[in-house]
Amino acid sequence: MPSRQRYLFVCTNRREDGNPKGSCAQKGSEQLVKSLKDALVKRGAVKAIRACSSSCLDLCEIGAAVVQEPDHVAYGNVTLDDVDEIADAVVAGRVVERLVVHRPAGA
Ligand code: FES
Repeated sequence: MPSRQRYLFVCTNRREDGNPKGSCAQKGSEQLVKSLKDALVKRGAVKAIRACSSSCLDLCEIGAAVVQEPDHVAYGNVTLDDVDEIADAVVAGRVVERLVVHRPAGA
């Protein structure tokens, strides 16, 4: 299995319309993962960083949710407008602080 320096796990879970929890797919995450993949290609970073779809990350109320590993930070309320900033940060080994909703204790 090829290993990457970093991963972006994008929740693409979809719940039925009307479910009070909502879901990230209803908030545009299916396009989000495609756009993140494209952004990494444009930056020549696909061998080092992978963006991939995930099932529910248990951050439904603040989706679209993205987890960046191994930094172990979760981004919430992510939209297509955030794609370039996330891609630039992950390529540089940084985190987009304004989007962080969870991080490791003590970090
Ligand atoms: S539906 Fe995306 S975090 Fe739960």
